[in-house]
Amino acid sequence: MNAPKPLLTALREARHVVAFTGAGVSAESGLSTFRDAMTGLWSRFDPTRLATAEAFAANPELVWGWYEWRRMRVRHAEPNAAHRAIAALEAKVPATTLITQNVDDLHERAGSRSPIRLHGSLFAPRCFDCGSAHGALADPPGDFEDGSPLAPPRCAACGGFIRPGVVWFGEALPAEPMRCAFEAARACDVLLSIGTSGAVYPAADIPREARRNGAVIVEVNPNATDLDDVADFRLRGPAAEILPTLLAAAF
Ligand code: OAD
Repeated sequence: MNAPKPLLTALREARHVVAFTGAGVSAESGLSTFRDAMTGLWSRFDPTRLATAEAFAANPELVWGWYEWRRMRVRHAEPNAAHRAIAALEAKVPATTLITQNVDDLHERAGSRSPIRLHGSLFAPRCFDCGSAHGALADPPGDFEDGSPLAPPRCAACGGFIRPGVVWFGEALPAEPMRCAFEAARACDVLLSIGTSGAVYPAADIPREARRNGAVIVEVNPNATDLDDVADFRLRGPAAEILPTLLAAAF
């Protein structure tokens, strides 16, 4: 990939860069995206049965088992060159803000300082009833089969079921991360939108907010997305190839 010269200049002159990531940044670590045809989680599983509070209330074992399967997949995955390139960018441009929609921990494991998490984390379970944080989870039992139903742990405070610490459909995004994310979107000079379809709001408003405030928007994605219309530069390809090349050329 030959990065366009104006893009390299924008990156070099940027005082504040935002990296806004989605499931595609972890695709090359072997983790499924949501909306890719055939391989995406939402083309194989029904989100209304797995990713809503109503689904958890109706069948906590089914939902907990599915999220434990996903947590184990993440545990066995490694950060890829895209996660590492973003961590290296944070070292080069101190005012870099990483905003992620992902619930895995691969950014942190690649060395990113403290990503703003819009959709929670697979590693921050809490009580479904009283909201108390639950400690670190043990591995599921040895005979746990991928995605099979599993009884959730119980809350030490109230005895309620422990739920995954992710944002489900129909739930509000966490207020403080949202405030920080929109503040960074308004302040940045360049926003890199990496591996996201831009299909889910309010997260997808972040690149739009950055654009409205004059930032240069760079999309890194092998496919067309709902954010194509706001992108000044569309770099088509896998993030683990494009990002290291782009950042090495710029810095
Ligand atoms: P999607 O599955 O909607 O989009 C993934 C994007 O990654 C697509 O645009 C793919 O083209 C792109 N992609 C695939 N492989 C890639 C690669 N190697 N490098 C770069 N890009 C690649 O995932 P998100 O946009 O993250 O919400 O989805 C947003 C939200 O929808 C998720 O956070 C999740 C889901 O429902 C919650 O869990 C609340």
